[in-house]
This record gives sequence, structure tokens and C-alpha cells, in this order.
Amino acid sequence: MNEQIEYPVENTQLYIQQSSLSQRDEKVVWHPFTQHKTAPFSIPIVRGEGAYLYDDTGKKYIDAIASWWVNLHGHSHPYIAQKVAEQFSKLEQVIFAGFTHEPAVRLAERLLEILPKNQTKIFYSDNGSTAVEVALKMAIQYFHNQGFTKKTKVIALENGYHGDTFGTMAVGAKSAFNSPFEGFLYETIYLPVPIKGQEEHSLKTMKDLMQNADEIACFIFEPLIQGAGGMVMYEPEMLEELIKLAKQNGVLTIADEIMTGFGRTGKLFATDYIETKPDILCLSKGLTGGAMALGVTSCTQEIYDAFLSEDRKKTLFHSHSFTANPLACTAGLASLDLLLTEETNSKILKINQLHNEFKLKIDRSDDENGQNVVCVDIDYNLLKHKIRIKGTILAIEIQTVEGTSYFNNIRDIAYQFFIEKGILVRPLGNVIYLLPPYCISEEDLAYIYGCIEEFLDRF
Ligand SMILES: Cc1ncc(COP(=O)(O)O)c(C=O)c1O
Repeated sequence: MNEQIEYPVENTQLYIQQSSLSQRDEKVVWHPFTQHKTAPFSIPIVRGEGAYLYDDTGKKYIDAIASWWVNLHGHSHPYIAQKVAEQFSKLEQVIFAGFTHEPAVRLAERLLEILPKNQTKIFYSDNGSTAVEVALKMAIQYFHNQGFTKKTKVIALENGYHGDTFGTMAVGAKSAFNSPFEGFLYETIYLPVPIKGQEEHSLKTMKDLMQNADEIACFIFEPLIQGAGGMVMYEPEMLEELIKLAKQNGVLTIADEIMTGFGRTGKLFATDYIETKPDILCLSKGLTGGAMALGVTSCTQEIYDAFLSEDRKKTLFHSHSFTANPLACTAGLASLDLLLTEETNSKILKINQLHNEFKLKIDRSDDENGQNVVCVDIDYNLLKHKIRIKGTILAIEIQTVEGTSYFNNIRDIAYQFFIEKGILVRPLGNVIYLLPPYCISEEDLAYIYGCIEEFLDRF
């Protein structure tokens, strides 16, 4: 007997008719990153079209964060929908060990055409965290297979985020998100993020760490922008230097492009801003245009070759049931068709231009870090804010006496304010950011900028 079901089974239909989707949801669903004790009911979305989401009352929301950074071309895109539907009637799923299929092969071919030239192999999984897990396993086993069993440690940037599985939590910043599991997370060596003012410290730390490179397998980083850590940005020159140091000392480099990939930063990949290419790249989110779950870990031929052996124990033993799902790969191919057009490129450039115009409009001065700072009235402990832009991403860090924190109280106030305005933003604590689908209209962006101004003017 399932005690959770309070209504008699024969009345299920009646219960469904009489309850809102939010009420039914609250009874049976446990949502991610949600404190159900205090969180409001989840908003029931019944339809998505372009940059809009529609709830069950017909209210429209502009999806200004591309539904957790995944959506590139708009919701329910007819071209992606058509391609996936056609694929469904041919082949919806097949085991990917011992078998293959056209969408997986074609997507790998097309990805390798646009990824850094040193990348030659594509390993599929089904989300961002698993793409990172695979990367870490590839790097550690690469050395293990060659007998370097001491080379097991991982260097990661401070303040990073790479996912919520145990392996990825271990290389992310230690925080309230993962503190209950502290004892289960392997030791990671953290490197200061080379933001302005901290470049030398970061480089020096890396140089020092390289003294023990014989114990270090890899260096993992979010290239140029740390997303969940508050849209923290740093310069390509610094990343280039860090990667060079790692490479010179035989340490593999892993670029987690899960948020930054597919045009987000203004170029196809954030690592397109640098000359020295990473050994491994992780992709997900925008990979399918945000339509389906898929992950990719790409690597160099040298890494792949270290797994080739008569000894079967040298195999990369990693798989997921839905590895390289044909529908997801088809969505990936359709998304690439849309992404690699002049039209999408100009939309990306336009978003960047509009972000910059908005920044100029509300900027007042530069702080010592070269970031623009606006001083506003001291109310609700609000002192000033900093604005950063990279490609299609605009972030406004509101500085309060609570400091920068995911748990900053201003987060809920801002979230609610924008939801009431029909805009979906999900501030990272005191950092409000925009990361819209590329199809967003200029009018919608102007409306969002206006609402941001209104929000800032309140203080
Ligand atoms: C840089 C980065 N890596 C990894 C992940 C994890 O991806 P997923 O949520 O698909 O597991 C995220 C998710 O936000 C991310 O931003």
C-alpha cells in the first residue's frame, strides 16, 4: 500500500480535474535545487515557443537564461522537432556498445570539424556532469594505462562548478552544495582564478604546483567564464599561460565547455580565444540546441591511443544506457544546422552589441579591476554593482554587505520581481545574469534591460 497517495484510486480522475498542476506537482515531485519548505509552488509550463514559455494561465515568460543555459534557437523549434520526429520513426534507441548509427557518427564528424584541430575522438554520454566524469576518468586512466600510477591528482580552479555527481563535486568549489558529502570527495588541488588583480598569484601557484607534476594527472577549468560560481570572467591570455604550464609539465588539460560551448561567448567555443588547445573538452547543454539530453567528451588521438591494448583492462569502462541516443544526436545535428548559419552568427553579435550598449548606459565608473561599477543608494545594504559581459552573457553583480553568495537574500527578491514582469532570470545569489536563446528579439532584450534598471533603481 502506498501511503503517499491520499486520494482513493477511483477518485484520481476527480482529483486531477480539481487540482492545479502546481498542486499535483507539489504532492508527488521533488525538484532540483529547491528547498520545498520555503519555495513557492512550481510554475506549470504548458508550452514553449521561441524565447517564450507559457504557463497554464496563458502568462508568457521570456526565457532570459535559456532554461538553465541549454536553449540556443528557441523552444520547440520546428526544424529540430521535425528532424527528431523523422528519426523516431526510424530508430529511437540502440545499445551503443557493439552497435553504432548514422546520427552518432555524423554528429561526431561534424563536431570534430568545428572543435580544436587536436581533437580526434568523440565519447558520448548523456549530460554535463557525466561528460566531465568521463573526462576525469580518461585523464587519470591515460596515465594509469601507461604505468604512471602516481599521476592521479587533479588541479581545478577555485570557485568552479562541474556538476553534481560525486566525481564532479570533488573538483568543484567546496560549498554548502556539497558539504554533506565532504568525506566522500577525493582531494583536489585548487588554483586561484586568474581574474584581474589575481593573475600573478594564479600563475605563481600553478608554477609551484608543477614542481609536483609527477603526481598530477590533469587540470580542469571552465574556460573564460565560471558559470555557477557567479559568472566570474577572466582573460584568454591567462588561460593560455595556465594551459601552457600544464602542458610543459606533462599535465593533461580539460576544458569544461558545457556552459560556454556553441557560441555563448561570441565564438563557437571559449577555447577558440586561445592558441594552446586543451587535450580534452566537455560539451552538453547547447549541444542539442537544448532540446534533448546529451553529453560529449572529446579528446586527442594520443589519449585515445593510450587505451588501445591487447589487455582488456585498459578499456575505458564507462557507459550509460542512453549513450549516444539517436534522437539526441539527431537534435544535435539539427541544432548545428541552425547554429552554423550567418543568421545565427549575426544574432549572437547583436546580443553582444545590445548588452554592451546597456552596460554603457548604466555604467558610471571603473573600479580597480576594470569592471564597471555603479554606485547606488545605500538601502537594503546595497552599495554598488559590477557589470561583466562575454559574448551573449551579461552579468550584474550587486554588491551588498552580505557579500557575494549564492544564499544572498537579494536573490529571492530579484527572482520574484522578474517573474512578475514575465521574465525568467535565476540570479546566482547577488549576481543577476542574462544568457538568452539566440533567437531573442531586440524588443524583448530592451524590455529586460528596462526591468533591470527598474530593479536597480529601487535601491
Ligand atoms: C560548466 C559546467 N559543467 C558541468 C555542468 C553540469 O551539467 P549538467 O547539469 O548537465 O550535469 C554544468 C551545469 O550547469 C556547468 O555549468
